[in-house]
Amino acid sequence: MTSNEYFNRISSQWDRLQQQFYSERVRLAAIQQADLRPGQYVADVGAGTGYLTEALLQHGVWVIALDASRPMLDVLVQKLGPCSQLWCQRALGEQLPLADESVDAVFANMFLHHVESPAAVIRELTRILKPGGKLVITDLDRHPFRFLLEEHHDRWPGFERDQLREWFTQAGLNPVRLSCVGEECCDTSADGEVVARISIFLAYGEKNH
Ligand SMILES: C[S@@+](CC[C@H](N)C(=O)[O-])C[C@H]1O[C@@H](n2cnc3c(N)ncnc32)[C@H](O)[C@@H]1O
Repeated sequence: MTSNEYFNRISSQWDRLQQQFYSERVRLAAIQQADLRPGQYVADVGAGTGYLTEALLQHGVWVIALDASRPMLDVLVQKLGPCSQLWCQRALGEQLPLADESVDAVFANMFLHHVESPAAVIRELTRILKPGGKLVITDLDRHPFRFLLEEHHDRWPGFERDQLREWFTQAGLNPVRLSCVGEECCDTSADGEVVARISIFLAYGEKNH
């Protein structure tokens, strides 16, 4: 099964799983970093069923929710209902359907560890930022739990923060800040043998003027 088939298949269960994995705190920390103002344009890449999108809309911004899985986006639309400030589209993070320098902020929660080439995706997320725009990625620190790659189709066992700093800097982001969300992602393997608790980082960068 591919990662995309996995998310298509579990779309109706994702909200329940997500609540077991991590809490409100992750999206609150991510949104707080970006210092959003009403009327700004933001993209939620790998939006899934709208964990971040839902909270972003409460800040009066225009949200472009993008995800590779149509069933995940269908749940998002069903849940959030018709909303004039929301635009959803099936799209790959590797090739976003947005113009250069078109949004004020880009968010991606628990998306990066699913892509094949994180460095290239960070460059693509940066491409659509306006000068001075903000990239906020929340994801897993490097971990030893192989079952997550097998059972949840993760491609990467989290990331080293130094590596993220390098990718952000190479993409043209400055300053770059790496911090802890102060929350762990929790999961147990299907056979009940392994309990994973993985710290969650917040990577922040501003696009050069
Ligand atoms: C772990 S879920 C996180 C969803 C949501 N951000 C959240 O926090 O609940 C990862 C999401 O990334 C999407 N995804 C994976 N690879 C992708 C890619 N290359 N381009 C766009 N979306 C992708 C999946 O379809 C899935 O909805």
